[in-house]
Amino acid sequence: MSGKTLEIRHLNTSFFTQKGEVGAAKDICLEVRPGQIVGIVGESGCGKSVTARSVMGLVKYPGRVVSGEILLNGTRITGISKKEACSLRGSEVSMIFQEPMTSLNPVIKVGRQVEEVLLIHKKITKKEAKKEAAKILEAVGISDVASRMECYPHQLSGGLRQRVMIAMAMICSPSLLIADEPTTALDVTVEAQILRLMKKLCEAGTSILLISHNLGVIAQVCDYVYVMYAGRIVEQGETFTLFDHPAHPYTRGLLGAAKSLRSDAGLLKTIPGVVPNLLHLPAGCSFSPRCDSCMDLCRSEMPDMLPAGEKGHLTRCWRS
Ligand SMILES: Nc1ncnc2c1ncn2[C@@H]1O[C@H](COP(=O)(O)OP(=O)(O)O)[C@@H](O)[C@H]1O
Ligand SMILES: [Mg+2]
Repeated sequence: MSGKTLEIRHLNTSFFTQKGEVGAAKDICLEVRPGQIVGIVGESGCGKSVTARSVMGLVKYPGRVVSGEILLNGTRITGISKKEACSLRGSEVSMIFQEPMTSLNPVIKVGRQVEEVLLIHKKITKKEAKKEAAKILEAVGISDVASRMECYPHQLSGGLRQRVMIAMAMICSPSLLIADEPTTALDVTVEAQILRLMKKLCEAGTSILLISHNLGVIAQVCDYVYVMYAGRIVEQGETFTLFDHPAHPYTRGLLGAAKSLRSDAGLLKTIPGVVPNLLHLPAGCSFSPRCDSCMDLCRSEMPDMLPAGEKGHLTRCWRS
């Protein structure tokens, strides 16, 4: 297949707060091709969710997309009407969130909620919707579907609730699924099951944008990865390249922290310092105050994305 499922061109999304404009996503350029699982990774607060919400047209007030273009299967979706955006959501692109409980209605049985999505987007009878809902719930690995459909969300485990969310997201066969920290609230066994399910969905034709602060999750399923720091992409590349030859000191720091978590060294390695306040970013490279290979140039000028060796491997670092 050719073409791009998702293309983000120079996206800038800001929050207009009383203290000033907070640039939460800055000059984001990103692609998801058909059949790919693409990851966005970075510490909390670096702009992952804001980027995803910009694609969905779901940035919360006082935030908004300031500039840039977003294309879905070649069609520009920035600047479209609310009504058009609404019809795209669910049918062409859908999103799942970290805590399914906040997206499911607590007082409606889960079966009904899955059927609702179908009834909104498709010309279909209630009876057909019920049948299709059961089919998709089974496809996402829920057993004993008939009785589960009669449950309220709180009667299901976290893993089952996330499966219901995935079923709702997948029911209209969108070409793109955006999964924002879909396994963060789950234990590792259930996490592994959900990640396997994502791989299956991708093999069945859905492109996926997977967001996680956890490099392990990204490494397990993604083909290509973007690393974000303080609102910007700082490194991108094929998963293997990026993990074997990280080019940005921040990516190396994340990898070091992830490795020390897995070893029994007893000492948790972290990146020194904290993520800067987006309202008071340092001059030059945003990572420079935390970087152990920082030069004078880094404190005065922000580098562009520069080639880092392998094809498609780029890094925002003067030392590359
Ligand atoms: N409602 C808001 N008002 C002001 N700033 C916000 C708001 N929501 C998010 N931000 C800013 O956007 C940044 C990125 O947020 P987010 O995309 O949720 O981070 P991530 O998903 O990577 O943890 C935050 O660090 C914060 O500075
Ligand atoms: Mg987030």
